[in-house]
Amino acid sequence: MTQTLTNTLERVRVAYRAAMPKHRLHRYVGRASEVFTYTSVAERLLLFEEALVALRAPGAGGRCLEIGSYLGASAAVLAEAMRWAGHGDAGRVFCIDTWQNDAMTEGQRDTYEEFLRNTADWPGLIVPIRGASTEVDLPTQQSMDLVFIDGDHSYEAARADVERFAPMVADGGRLVMHDHRSKPGVTRVLGEVLTTGQWVIQRCVESIVSLRRVPQNQD
Ligand SMILES: C[S@@+](CC[C@H](N)C(=O)[O-])C[C@H]1O[C@@H](n2cnc3c(N)ncnc32)[C@H](O)[C@@H]1O
Repeated sequence: MTQTLTNTLERVRVAYRAAMPKHRLHRYVGRASEVFTYTSVAERLLLFEEALVALRAPGAGGRCLEIGSYLGASAAVLAEAMRWAGHGDAGRVFCIDTWQNDAMTEGQRDTYEEFLRNTADWPGLIVPIRGASTEVDLPTQQSMDLVFIDGDHSYEAARADVERFAPMVADGGRLVMHDHRSKPGVTRVLGEVLTTGQWVIQRCVESIVSLRRVPQNQD
């Protein structure tokens, strides 16, 4: 009887997880889920869940870094993961973007004010760093629990972002890349990252993939 109930509850849980990503994302991040973005609900959900795992790991420092923030949708997801993980005022989500809509099909425009409005609920936690990702100075050299790469998706730019920022991911932390299915340059960079042997694919949904850094001297 107890086993039957357990099985039924497990089936309900699995069905809920599969069928209601929008509801779940809203439950986790509230109205941050309504910020306009091309990153789908399922992709943002993966980002949230992977950030939560990384931020709750023993020794996590409460730091995430995002390259390509646009209007703030994914930054807000990371900020909410920080809150859920209990890092409080000490947590930081560093956001690098030119906020000029570079490399976006919709064309160049200044998106900074919109980003600031959409992320106003997390003052201090979200730290904007404005400029080209290869040129900006970072306010810290400390390791990151998660790095999310979603800037310029050309091969050269994505590779430069990976070369500069992937080494900042802590052992056991996450490197998340967006558009690896839709942008051939990102697909190629992902392949190169995997051949280093330093990363294993943790999860993949639609066009977002999360890689876990394999701790040194471990398989
Ligand atoms: C696809 S959008 C990011 C979407 C965002 N992560 C989200 O989920 O809503 C890409 C962003 O990268 C920025 N970008 C493009 N090239 C860049 C570069 N070289 N340095 C910094 N930001 C860049 C663009 O300005 C744009 O805001």
